Amino acid sequence: MQKKSVLFVCLGNICRSPAAEAIFFDLVKKKGLNDNFIVDSAGTGSWHIGKNADNRMRIAAKKRGVEILSKARQINAKDFEKFNYIIAMDDSNFRNIQDLKNRTSSTDFASINKIQNFRSIFNEQEVPDPYFGGDEGFDHVLDILEDSVSCFLESIS
Ligand code: 4NP
Repeated sequence: MQKKSVLFVCLGNICRSPAAEAIFFDLVKKKGLNDNFIVDSAGTGSWHIGKNADNRMRIAAKKRGVEILSKARQINAKDFEKFNYIIAMDDSNFRNIQDLKNRTSSTDFASINKIQNFRSIFNEQEVPDPYFGGDEGFDHVLDILEDSVSCFLESIS
């Protein structure tokens, strides 16, 4: 069976998209589907390249049994050829991904979407950026992502 590949994208790649990646990976592991998927995350920005995810997000996720191990990287043109699905956290990420694709890539291989288009419980149409807020913002992001990431996985399984 051909593996499906998923790239989650936010701005800094230290809060939202690493959390989405870890939640997705945790779900596929629990379903015994690890061998069917490749999952990664990236940022549209370059400020945090090489860094671990934000401690506040790592601690909030760990409390739920989800380990975030990724190191930040920036999305690049090759990602449009490598990934079946490129999934943005908010409208601005989505636009920046489209702009990068239009400037750098001729392939229509990757399907580009927004994670909240798969939501079922929460009304938020974007995953809010928790970086400049308090700890409760990180828990809220995880609540939102647990819903939409699991619905996204269902939709592609
Ligand atoms: P993320 O959050 O996009 O969810 O990783 C942010 C992280 C860092 C910054 C902004 C958002 N920043 O401005 O450095």
